[in-house]
Amino acid sequence: MDSPRRHAHIVGWGKAVPERVLTNGDLAAMVDTSDEWIRQRTGIVERHIAGEGETTFSLSLQAAQDALDVADLDPARLDLIIVATVTPDHAFPATACLLQDALGAKKAAPFDLSAGCSGFVYGLSLAADLLRAGSYEHALVIGAETLSRITDWSDRDTCVLFGDGAGAVILQASEMPGGVLASVLGADGSGGELLILPAGGSAHPPTVETVAARQHFIQMQGRPVFRFATRVLPEASRQVLARAGLTVEEVTLFVPHQANDRILQAAARGLGVPVERMFSNLARYGNTSSASIPIALCEVIEQGLVKRDDLIVCVAFGAGLTWAATAIRWSLPLPVPAPSRRVTIWRWLCYRWARLHSRWRRLWRWIDARLFQILYDRDGKRKRR
Ligand code: ACO
Repeated sequence: MDSPRRHAHIVGWGKAVPERVLTNGDLAAMVDTSDEWIRQRTGIVERHIAGEGETTFSLSLQAAQDALDVADLDPARLDLIIVATVTPDHAFPATACLLQDALGAKKAAPFDLSAGCSGFVYGLSLAADLLRAGSYEHALVIGAETLSRITDWSDRDTCVLFGDGAGAVILQASEMPGGVLASVLGADGSGGELLILPAGGSAHPPTVETVAARQHFIQMQGRPVFRFATRVLPEASRQVLARAGLTVEEVTLFVPHQANDRILQAAARGLGVPVERMFSNLARYGNTSSASIPIALCEVIEQGLVKRDDLIVCVAFGAGLTWAATAIRWSLPLPVPAPSRRVTIWRWLCYRWARLHSRWRRLWRWIDARLFQILYDRDGKRKRR
């Protein structure tokens, strides 16, 4: 007998942005720009910027804990953690591994994913496929960035665009139809140099010269990226809808990557839908790369713009040049009740325990190394007494 078909549903969500806000006015005092230019050309009014000690990991952790609360899920039940980011805390270990440790997600397989601003949709699609295939039950998918750390604050072409933040969703496998229906992922690698962090990798390791040449900051050719985005957003949206056997008219809301309001307007025209069907929160966050769609998704839910059985299309473009779209049939009744005080205290204890456990593991590794030194020689042979 065939096993029942599995589906992947979003059952939890959370977002986190740094407290510090940088307005267009603040930027006008730093570079040759104006509030008027930034508003008119991009739609951005302000963005959140990470403070000292805030990192991609710390923002991811806040968003993940909120998402787990909404899903009412113990982190120990997570099978998979994907962090989509172009600004990980380190080249390695993966930010997802830091998160696995902090959450106490003992059985989860964690890894980072780099697909520019399309990263979150790439991660969502991958996780949904793994859940549908029967490999896993629960996945945490995060888009998180601290772009402020790789922004050249003397370059007005780019510094007005970006912000920091994180968004997370929990995916759960179920036999109930709906959830993530279909996805489309793609790239045109020939456009890689249009949006690039030139140095710091194996091609150009960090040197005094790369630092002096400001090659550790985002470099972007805005106009070709703009043209690429206006073409690819409607194309990818139509493709994913065709794959799901649906039409543009059936879509309740498009949740696009938040890069520029003019791009969203062009995408709406390309799809033949009113611009109100393109969700935008650019004004308050700027472009947060892979975090933009999960943050937007949280706000769509918070603002009551989605209800059960609605059809949502998330669509993104970004460095690579990549594109990605996913069609989601919303399956959860809203609003979700807030977790009880008992559950909140229990979770708090779990996270404390995870931190203690992590410290103990480090201490034990230290003791183990010392014992090894005392008992064994360099070749691993037991020392004679
Ligand atoms: N303030 C004032 N003037 C500016 C600024 C600024 N901040 N930036 C550029 N200008 C000037 C330019 O120098 C230019 O002046 P000129 O005509 O004298 O040469 C003029 O404004 C127009 O410049 P354009 O580049 O044509 O401006 P455009 O309307 O294309 O807007 C923008 C630029 C906002 C960058 C747009 O091209 C865009 O949004 N591109 C897509 C960016 C994007 O989505 N990137 C994704 C990155 S996400 C990731 O993967 C990290």
